[in-house]
Amino acid sequence: MNQEKMGKFIAELRMEQGYTQKEIGDKLGITDNSVSKWERGINAPDICYLKELAEIFHVTVQEILNGERNFKKKEIDKEHHSKILEVKNLSKSFGKRKVLKNITFDIYEGDIVGLIGPNGAGKTTLIKTILSLYKKDTGSVKICGYDNKKDLEKALSKTGSIIENPDLYQNISGRKNLKITALINDIKDKEYIEKMIKFVKLEDRIDDKVKKYSLGMKQRLGLANALIKRPKLLILDEPTNGLDPLGIKELRGILRKISREENISILISSHILSEVENICDRILIIDEGKVNSEFGIEEVKYKNISLEDEYFAKMKKDE
Ligand SMILES: Nc1ncnc2c1ncn2[C@@H]1O[C@H](COP(=O)(O)OP(=O)(O)O)[C@@H](O)[C@H]1O
Ligand SMILES: [Mg+2]
Repeated sequence: MNQEKMGKFIAELRMEQGYTQKEIGDKLGITDNSVSKWERGINAPDICYLKELAEIFHVTVQEILNGERNFKKKEIDKEHHSKILEVKNLSKSFGKRKVLKNITFDIYEGDIVGLIGPNGAGKTTLIKTILSLYKKDTGSVKICGYDNKKDLEKALSKTGSIIENPDLYQNISGRKNLKITALINDIKDKEYIEKMIKFVKLEDRIDDKVKKYSLGMKQRLGLANALIKRPKLLILDEPTNGLDPLGIKELRGILRKISREENISILISSHILSEVENICDRILIIDEGKVNSEFGIEEVKYKNISLEDEYFAKMKKDE
């Protein structure tokens, strides 16, 4: 056991999942100062706290002791998970111009997948075609087994999304926005709505009009709004566009937590690699409308290189 490494890992997990030291302390019935001492490697948590920490952070006791996630194991577990999104030989053109060329990939339950590639690669087109906002030329898309053409309504009922800007009414409060979405989707679970408000940390401002929100707050409300219908798949197109570093960090924590606690799969497109590296379990690179490569983030971590290095290596190979 390396006390310092363990401490760093605890701090990482805590921030990733959006807890303060005090919140962790309160959960364990100890002071935030004790948590701070663990994180700085001054003390190691007693055995009795290890189990609780593992539960709070959704990792194993062994992983906390090792000070890192055991990626290999997670990879094997995935084989038993079910497919949430299945994209097969998908092609799409605008006029004569082929923008998506024979795209095939799957997303499994609980996966967070980063869709990366240069501007104009076809990320937004791919997302809009998955959601049936664009009509595909050929191929198939299934969400939780429902075809996005034959069973569109069912497929979409399993999907929450934010494309470009979140779809919100500006002149009413955040809470009213969520209530309207709940009403439209026939969701009566009031507790779940409150849970989502807490999840995205808008408790204090939820009764203010949306037009008074900052961009980060609007993004977070948009996220809660997309989650109200309890989707199995969440699709976010460039969600951190325009957010400041703190906003990005908060969003990252929220997404990780939501994926773990509600078992939601997430497809998130971005051209900012460092950001994707810290949120996603898997990476899908698309370039000029084709899948360039697909890999688990643990592959990059094992090689001890950054996602950026891996990205340029893969893009080069393709030339
Ligand atoms: N509605 C559209 N009509 C015509 N061409 C489009 C349309 N939307 C996107 N394109 C073209 O498709 C290509 C891929 O765009 P897009 O999917 O927005 O890429 P990305 O999101 O990866 O930056 C670009 O060349 C773009 O000009
Ligand atoms: Mg785009």
